[in-house]
Amino acid sequence: MRIKTTQDDTYLNRLTAAAPAPLVEKARAAEVLSGERRTATVLHLDVVGSTAIAELVGEETWASIMTEGYDRFAQAVYQYEGTIARLLGDALVAFFGAPVMHEDDPIRGIKAALDLVELAEDFKDEVKRDYGIDFRVRVCLNTGPVVTGPVSSNMRYDFTPVGGVVNLAARIKFAAKPMTILISENTYSFVSPVFECSDLGLIEVADRPEPVRVYQVLGLKTEPGSLRGLAGFESPMVGREKELASLINLCEAVQAGLGRVVVIRGEPGMGKSRLIKEWKTAILAKQAKPISSWVEGRSLSYGQGLAYHLIIDLLYSLMCIRQGVGESKAHQAWKGLLRDYFSEEQDYQDIYPYLGHLLSFELDQQAQDKVLSLDPQTLQARYTSALRSILTKMSNRQPMIIVLEDLHWADPSSIELLIKLLPMISSAPLLFCMISRVELDTPGWKLISSAREFFGGRITEISLDALSETESREMVSNLLEVEALPEKTRAMILQKSEGNPFFVEEVIRMLIDQGAIKQVNGDWVAGGNIEHIEIPDNLQGLLLARIDRLPDEVKHTLRVAAVIGRQFPVKVLELVLGGIE
Ligand SMILES: Nc1ncnc2c1ncn2[C@@H]1O[C@H](COP(=O)(O)OP(=O)(O)O)[C@@H](O)[C@H]1O
Ligand SMILES: [Mg+2]
Repeated sequence: MRIKTTQDDTYLNRLTAAAPAPLVEKARAAEVLSGERRTATVLHLDVVGSTAIAELVGEETWASIMTEGYDRFAQAVYQYEGTIARLLGDALVAFFGAPVMHEDDPIRGIKAALDLVELAEDFKDEVKRDYGIDFRVRVCLNTGPVVTGPVSSNMRYDFTPVGGVVNLAARIKFAAKPMTILISENTYSFVSPVFECSDLGLIEVADRPEPVRVYQVLGLKTEPGSLRGLAGFESPMVGREKELASLINLCEAVQAGLGRVVVIRGEPGMGKSRLIKEWKTAILAKQAKPISSWVEGRSLSYGQGLAYHLIIDLLYSLMCIRQGVGESKAHQAWKGLLRDYFSEEQDYQDIYPYLGHLLSFELDQQAQDKVLSLDPQTLQARYTSALRSILTKMSNRQPMIIVLEDLHWADPSSIELLIKLLPMISSAPLLFCMISRVELDTPGWKLISSAREFFGGRITEISLDALSETESREMVSNLLEVEALPEKTRAMILQKSEGNPFFVEEVIRMLIDQGAIKQVNGDWVAGGNIEHIEIPDNLQGLLLARIDRLPDEVKHTLRVAAVIGRQFPVKVLELVLGGIE
């Protein structure tokens, strides 16, 4: 690793000063956790063979290439609300998870890494053209504990890595081919359901007594798995019978030609997505041949700043393909869908260019002319009417269920458009299923409020609350599959998880990880000191992300509480709060 120079400081100031305002605000809100141990995903980007290149082009030219490169790379980090922790000559170190924390930081880290490599590909071509040199990077990630200090007004902070987490990210780079992404086993364990990775085996790393297993990230999985749940364990859905029955009823109404809206709300982990999955399975099982079509648009946790993100996802679902299949395949599918529903050329031409533009397809000149001459407002109106036409046509042929997942993360432009589509419910067999956490100040909640205003009591509202104690017990028994679990352990799981199915799974995961329960001859037995357990990383992320939305005073208390643990003596809390203020 290079020695830090004053030049690095100048660069770093320039980059951190460019951090977007919402990120700065979150860093400020996380201030109270400075000095606490947090789990962060550390991203290390470095330029391959930079010393030789710098000698070739001279220090000054090299400095200007790096300034430009850093400026671009920082954007990819900020896009996913990571922060830039340090620059070291030709290397950039970014953190996802500290000081700003989300429930999916390792995923964000890898997404940023994929974007970084893409940016670097473009930059490489430009640098080759302008300077005749090869500019290539490698990106490596590791996940582990760090302690960050207070964040200054221009987003600078100090940090202390624990157990060499930052060093390891830097050291595995020697096993990385240029323009690839390498991750440690720690990071892999968080992200493997979502990204295609290849196991590169064990590598020797300086200062580490044991070899380290590394993986190369190949890209997004075409069928990403769930980040929830315990590998190897699954409980059938417990409870929720009434809710499932009411969803199935709604389906029948829509199949009879009526339009409907259902809102499913509940805290993270309460089982909103699981209920939808069970509902889908139940209706598919009932239908000999499909009598309604199912489309689904999903918002992403970092999607609020991506215009029309949710609508684009919905359009891909209409085309029955996944994003990431490549422009030509997607473009083909888009034309195919429209040709199927719009036989009149004029009707086709009223839709194809506009939504084709929204989907970022390479349009022919004629289509481009149509779109580019419009002002943004007119363009938006065209998007809306085009989408309305498609949904009308499609639902005429077959009633439609439109699932809008994780609306609490939806982007405002998609929501504006969806609000304009709501009146369609009065005349078309469409069932809008709106799924959200109760977060009243999000754009997504606006859609729910508008639907309520519009349809009043005709909306079906499903609130998913905590499971009853009997239900939680049933879930624990299903997951651990034996009745012989010590009652003390069972009680602890129930108490810690508070009827939240996700918490039930996470508490069990943590007990297994920490060896507090283990399988002996097929039976679960308590081992070690079961009382001294820590909140698992996933749960901590979820709790803190949730706490970020509360008013300041409550936030302050809860943050401290969350760090101490969900169960803690009030005295400890008082002491800590007293110590901070
Ligand atoms: N009623 C239930 N019975 C059994 N497992 C459940 C139940 N509800 C949720 N789960 C499990 O708990 C985890 C969290 O549920 P999920 O649907 O992802 O929550 P949400 O979408 O509300 O955040 C998932 O692994 C899910 O399979
Ligand atoms: Mg969900």
